[in-house]
Amino acid sequence: MAVPGVAGSGSLGRELLLGSADVTDDSHADAAADFIEATRSSYDTIAPAYSAEHPDGLGDGPLETALLTAFADLARAAAPGAPVADVGSGPGYVTARLNALGIQAFGIDISPHMVALAREAHPRLRFEVGSMTSLDVPDATLGGIIALYSTIHIPDPELPGVFTEFHRALRPGGHVLLAFQASEGEHIHMTERYGLDISLDYYFRTPAEVAGFLAGAGLSLDAQVRVEPRGEQRLGRAFALAHRPSASG
Ligand SMILES: C[S@@+](CC[C@H](N)C(=O)[O-])C[C@H]1O[C@@H](n2cnc3c(N)ncnc32)[C@H](O)[C@@H]1O
Repeated sequence: MAVPGVAGSGSLGRELLLGSADVTDDSHADAAADFIEATRSSYDTIAPAYSAEHPDGLGDGPLETALLTAFADLARAAAPGAPVADVGSGPGYVTARLNALGIQAFGIDISPHMVALAREAHPRLRFEVGSMTSLDVPDATLGGIIALYSTIHIPDPELPGVFTEFHRALRPGGHVLLAFQASEGEHIHMTERYGLDISLDYYFRTPAEVAGFLAGAGLSLDAQVRVEPRGEQRLGRAFALAHRPSASG
């Protein structure tokens, strides 16, 4: 799978590496309050370049393909025919892969430009503008939620609310699959990508930290996979699979 955001040290553009203490100073408290607007506007700016770089970032990696297939099987078993949300769907390739596996997946993304490009690339599939902080989905309706490299843009204080939203929207037994760059409490503020001016924050966490946030929202952890950095990549990645417990667990 491509590593959106931090594919290689050479693609980072202008960035500011911040320790966790920096996140709490006044300027960054303001930045956190505006993070949704900043994320939307940044991805609107880079949407064409990002989509060109990652038209199908899943590639043929056997590990990523196996995880996606396992997630699809679990979502299907938990709730046959139930919709699955690809949250932070970007160019839409994962939504398309899930549909090819027989899952009724639709995409949700904060960036209208990204959604427009996903619709153009996959005209038969559904993509909506929306935020994972407040999903426009009725309670207990989704068979699964997949969020690949999108919760990395959520500041720590907002992440419990996002995972509580996932719990609310999932049917009991429904699964979540997350992917994220793994690092310890690393905050990057990026001001340029693809030669374009942006203002985009990345929050990299350890698998244990993410597991703690999932548990705090009542989601039960099933598995974590840690992938070592490849080639020029600076950071490893991690996948977390969890589910909303049913009455029987
Ligand atoms: C690094 S890209 C990953 C895209 C895709 N999941 C992939 O793996 O290539 C992050 C995506 O998450 C979206 N995103 C960021 N914050 C979001 C939020 N609060 N709600 C919904 N989408 C969000 C961005 O607009 C962007 O398309």
